[in-house]
Amino acid sequence: MSRKPIIAGNWKMNKLQSEAKELFLGIAYFAERFTKEQLPTIVLAPTFTSLAAVESMRCDKCRPLVAIAAQNCNWEKSGAYTGEISVDMIKDAGCEYIIIGHSERRQHFLETDEMINKKAKAILEGGLIPIICCGETLEQREAGITDSHIASQIKAALAGLTEEEISKSVIAYEPIWAIGTGKTCDADEANRVIAMIRNVIKDLSSIAAGDAIRILYGGSVTPSSIEEQMSKSDIDGALVGGASLKIDSFSEIIANTMKVTVK
Ligand code: PGA
Repeated sequence: MSRKPIIAGNWKMNKLQSEAKELFLGIAYFAERFTKEQLPTIVLAPTFTSLAAVESMRCDKCRPLVAIAAQNCNWEKSGAYTGEISVDMIKDAGCEYIIIGHSERRQHFLETDEMINKKAKAILEGGLIPIICCGETLEQREAGITDSHIASQIKAALAGLTEEEISKSVIAYEPIWAIGTGKTCDADEANRVIAMIRNVIKDLSSIAAGDAIRILYGGSVTPSSIEEQMSKSDIDGALVGGASLKIDSFSEIIANTMKVTVK
């Protein structure tokens, strides 16, 4: 079983178009020093307003090396949904991935498990790949309900998906208390939770789907934390926030990922 690592940068609500282009180009130049086989799958998620600007920078050489993603989508195809953006529109903008269910969206925009499931279905039907986020609060961790909470988020997000759809999806385990706080989750503990998620998927779908799905860790990932995280059996990469906003730190995360052998 070999799962290609993914290093994804979630730019959140940062970077104007000119800054987004500069950041993209810096990362693309770095990636172009390697072959697609050497690199992890690199995914960058700019804001909606910078997607076209970033897409316009993707040359024939860097296109296969650096994919782009949206940070959210609506599950409807089109129509009277002011302010929303459909999967087809995101695909049309050049994206291959869409991040859904980020804890900031669950917390500030009241996204529910049911909405996340509808988004996952719409993304897969549209031929893109969902990066589905899950994670517990500090209170949930302290109350000892981390595993049951994560398991219920995963079951709800993946409900009704086929084995094939689940196998190509991506999960990001992001403990909420570790996001943007500088408090990285201990790598063994992150690996334990991710292995638990894999078992939930094996029960829900099939052993093959649980073995195939790529599960990332997210939460204060840095160039110095990634190597240990990547050395763990079940961690297939990272969803990076703060450290994805600088060319140097994100490139170093990619470089350090490449030091660890493919699982
Ligand atoms: P962080 O964010 O790396 O800044 O902690 C991670 C995320 O929210 O995806």
